[in-house]
Amino acid sequence: MSVDLKTRYLGMELKNPLIAGPTPLTGHVDKLKELEEAGVAAVCLPSLFEEQIHHDEAEAAKLAEQAEGFAEAASFFPEMQIYNTGPDKYLETVKEAKAALKIPVFASLNGYTAGGWVRYAKMMQDAGADALELNVYDVPTQVDASAADIESRCLKLVSNVKEAISIPLAVKISPFFSSLVNMSKSLKEAGADGLICFNRFMQPDINLDEMKIEPSIELSQSAELRLPLRWIGILKGRVELSLGGTCGVHTNNDVVKLLLAGSDAVMLASSILRHGTGYPSMLLASLSDWMEKNDYASIEQLKGSMSQLNSAEPEKYERANYMKALVNYTTTNK
Ligand SMILES: Cc1cc2nc3c(=O)[nH]c(=O)nc-3n(C[C@H](O)[C@H](O)[C@H](O)COP(=O)(O)O)c2cc1C
Repeated sequence: MSVDLKTRYLGMELKNPLIAGPTPLTGHVDKLKELEEAGVAAVCLPSLFEEQIHHDEAEAAKLAEQAEGFAEAASFFPEMQIYNTGPDKYLETVKEAKAALKIPVFASLNGYTAGGWVRYAKMMQDAGADALELNVYDVPTQVDASAADIESRCLKLVSNVKEAISIPLAVKISPFFSSLVNMSKSLKEAGADGLICFNRFMQPDINLDEMKIEPSIELSQSAELRLPLRWIGILKGRVELSLGGTCGVHTNNDVVKLLLAGSDAVMLASSILRHGTGYPSMLLASLSDWMEKNDYASIEQLKGSMSQLNSAEPEKYERANYMKALVNYTTTNK
């Protein structure tokens, strides 16, 4: 039996659910070609950052007055261009990637405020991007900003971006919303076509030798899959949005679990950085094998079959799971 790996995501048909998510690697067309050869159905370039766009437009001085710490942060921008080449070259990379690849190419914007910078969304579309990922990376610290304020800032950003483009828009959200299902519905109303669950925030660390706070990036582990797994399982069927799963996808079992919970697409980042651009071909072969062995003829049949709404034990996505896990832990660790 041959299995049908096709999936629908953001209104388009993808040949399989695996997408190479944004990392420094996806900013290089030769690497994108290797990923295409390894079978991924689409690729997403690394994000272009709101701050880079502001900086590029020579607003640095004005922003430095407005935002404490910005002047210091501005010193990162020359280095940032090693990461994603900066706004102008970014658009060129989109064009080059489109010319070199047959699979869909997504572009990515990373920001948190609505504003003029979002016109880059349209430029990315004009450069040929097939869809846009909007990574809403917000770490709210103001005592006076309520959850409603932060949510409305996010929704305004999404509707601004959506107004600027006609290609599909996927919003990469954080898991830190008080009412994620309700927020997802609002994101759809604001114009999102899909959600990517979740943004994996880079957490700061403290360097005890130098007594400094420093950023630190560590690649993920499979155990981190549980967070998107739970929420994709809960969201599936409750909101009419495409669902992309990211965070902790390393093995075929991880891919299968996200699909069972309800993902329409599965994003790979750390696993490709760890194992190289050829890794997706192994995952795809394992996925087909697993489906054959378990009598699934198509991804569409698999998708969401163990979502909360389709589950015989829906409570396991909620508090009951917590109590059961505690009981299991105490009985096995007596
Ligand atoms: C080094 C590195 C750079 C990343 N850069 C971006 C980025 O530019 N934009 C973005 O949306 N996500 C970025 N991510 C996040 C990944 O796309 C992905 O969502 C996250 O790492 C979780 O997936 P994983 O467990 O497969 O790594 C980056 C991750 C890593 C490790």
